[in-house]
Amino acid sequence: MLVTGAAGALGRATLTLLARLGVPATGLDLYDPGGLPADRVVTGDAGDAAAVRDALDGVDAVIHLAAIPAPTLGTPEEVFCGNTRATFVVLEEAGRAGVRRAAVASSFSVLGLPWSPRVLRPAYVPVDEALPLQVEDPYGLSKQADEATSSMMARRHGMSVVALRFPLLGGPGDKLGKTAARYADDPGSGVKELWTYLDLRDAAHAAFLAVTRPVSGYHAVFVTAPDILAPQPTEELLDRFHPEVERRAPLPGRAVPIDLGRAERLLGFTAGHPYTRDHAVEESS
Ligand SMILES: NC(=O)c1ccc[n+]([C@@H]2O[C@H](COP(=O)([O-])OP(=O)(O)OC[C@H]3O[C@@H](n4cnc5c(N)ncnc54)[C@H](O)[C@@H]3O)[C@@H](O)[C@H]2O)c1
Repeated sequence: MLVTGAAGALGRATLTLLARLGVPATGLDLYDPGGLPADRVVTGDAGDAAAVRDALDGVDAVIHLAAIPAPTLGTPEEVFCGNTRATFVVLEEAGRAGVRRAAVASSFSVLGLPWSPRVLRPAYVPVDEALPLQVEDPYGLSKQADEATSSMMARRHGMSVVALRFPLLGGPGDKLGKTAARYADDPGSGVKELWTYLDLRDAAHAAFLAVTRPVSGYHAVFVTAPDILAPQPTEELLDRFHPEVERRAPLPGRAVPIDLGRAERLLGFTAGHPYTRDHAVEESS
């Protein structure tokens, strides 16, 4: 398998999973930090067709993660043009090389909520894949375009392409622990993310399922933990921060306000590493 963005947080978690499962893996990234658990590492830009062709040698499936993962980490042109070019080139070259399975990292940000300067309201909760998008930033737009590219490439090359709409990703001892502590003090700081999260190990597992389960054609799918990262009950948070948003199903306890039905049906995915405060203490001690 080819993993792009191999040196990043999710790339490393994915290579670690593939190594554990005994799946041969090639990594592609702009830089090679050394020590990546891959059989082969190609250094290059995922938007460069020659580098991608080199990386695709002997590959039967692609997990495309390479991207600038926030609109604040580059100019608007770098974020939008760099991300969308990479996705186009990786899927086009994969299709031309005969690869028929691909997963692409999309994002919860495709909804537009996280990076808007305003607090946008989703039309309804639980959020599902039919929810209208309201993108106002170059990163969210890059993921919206990546999803359109994925859908086109699935038809063009007869591939299966799954666009995984990841929420905030991290490990319990770092990003998730810090964010959980912030939400506990200031639950309003999580409203744009709807307090969603996913452990990197689960995100890697979802990516693996997306290229190995019997899937055909193109699908966008939300993959999140089944609970939220804030300690308060979900409906209490919605009453306080989104009182006017239509509720289409009960959200008992700290249930995530995302419909995970497609992830379960399509990929057989449920998160195996829910966040708990105990984990955070264990990992950081
Ligand atoms: N981290 C999150 O919370 C989160 C949430 C939702 C979606 N995502 C998506 O998941 C994917 C992985 O995110 P991450 O957290 O591992 O990010 P990261 O920044 O840790 O890793 C991204 C990696 O991609 C590489 N890269 C970027 N552009 C490249 C290019 N053009 N060619 C080759 N390599 C390139 C970088 O060098 C880096 O190693 C991204 O597509 C991101 O948009 C991340």
